[in-house]
Amino acid sequence: MKVQLVGFGNIGQGFAQVLLKKTRSLRERYGIDLQVVSISDISGTAIDEKGLNLQKALATMEKTGKIIDYPGAKKISGLEAIEEVPADVVVEATPSNIETGEPGMSHMLKAFEIGKHVVTSNKGPLALSFKKLKEAASKTGVEFKYEATAGGAMPIINLARECLSGDDIIAIEGILNGTTNYILTGMHRKESPFDIVLRESQELGIAEADPSYDIDGIDTASKLVILANALMGMDVSYKDVRVKGIRRVTLEAVKLAKEEGYVIKLIGEVRNSRLEVSPRLVPVNHPLNVDGALNVAMFETDIAGEITIVGKGAGAIETNSALLSDIISIWRKRS
Ligand SMILES: NC(=O)c1ccc[n+]([C@@H]2O[C@H](COP(=O)([O-])OP(=O)(O)OC[C@H]3O[C@@H](n4cnc5c(N)ncnc54)[C@H](OP(=O)(O)O)[C@@H]3O)[C@@H](O)[C@H]2O)c1
Repeated sequence: MKVQLVGFGNIGQGFAQVLLKKTRSLRERYGIDLQVVSISDISGTAIDEKGLNLQKALATMEKTGKIIDYPGAKKISGLEAIEEVPADVVVEATPSNIETGEPGMSHMLKAFEIGKHVVTSNKGPLALSFKKLKEAASKTGVEFKYEATAGGAMPIINLARECLSGDDIIAIEGILNGTTNYILTGMHRKESPFDIVLRESQELGIAEADPSYDIDGIDTASKLVILANALMGMDVSYKDVRVKGIRRVTLEAVKLAKEEGYVIKLIGEVRNSRLEVSPRLVPVNHPLNVDGALNVAMFETDIAGEITIVGKGAGAIETNSALLSDIISIWRKRS
């Protein structure tokens, strides 16, 4: 199966690392022979229709940080690579843009138009125009897989689709952003104010230099929209979510909650067609009380009742568990 990688940052390079480790077991377990035939970043595209040397691609990034420095790479964009290079699957891992969905939106639509499957970790396009993307994929009969967009390594979508396929999902609630969970856990444990814990998280590389996407709840809201559309048959976009982030969570509130046996967590919830992201009180012994940068999602269903899943919501390697399982699922379905 020929794969095109568009976006070669943390996730893209993680994908290459995971493939280098898994090539043999993928062949032995599933009979898949995966070849990465192109890798694009903003600088250009490395192409080899027989399969690129992934070690060389990673070494190039370590040396110069640009894929254009891979021997023979061309100054063509990711979009042009999707159009021009023959392949079965596009792995889309460019930055998430919640305002326009670009560049991921154009990459995905182009891939669907010319009959390529898409596997992605990029939530922006899905949080904006899920229905449009689904329709574009079904028009040409290709697969659209996005397990990595909501909850990183946590198999939320596949769990619901495969294991809860006979249930109706009444509600989903959870912690879908590791950075905010890390900050709130730090405030609770160390009894330190928001600003101090945020600064520590930035120094550790857990929070971004501009943390607004996480702490203002935008990231959680995007993931909630994807889950609502994908698992509850809704047709909503990011603009339909009532969002309140954690900037205003004071140390006094955290301490008061602690005294009463609660923690404060940034919870995303979809229930009764309403989508909401807000800081909430969670009892310390409740399944949603997970520590550090962990994510958690709880399904409320009509038959199984409550099901909770916990895992790593991000990570260059961990998130690739989801991308890889999507690729394997396409392979199984198509072969
Ligand atoms: N990191 C995580 O743990 C994680 C977890 C779940 C989901 N995600 C999502 O996965 C996606 C990738 O995340 P990341 O952490 O790998 O981001 P990243 O490190 O910023 O990498 C983004 C990559 O996309 C490339 N790019 C940007 N614009 C492009 C364009 N127009 N055409 C081709 N390539 C382009 C960048 O190239 P340059 O470097 O040349 O600019 C870079 O190689 C994001 O949507 C993110 O939200 C990330």
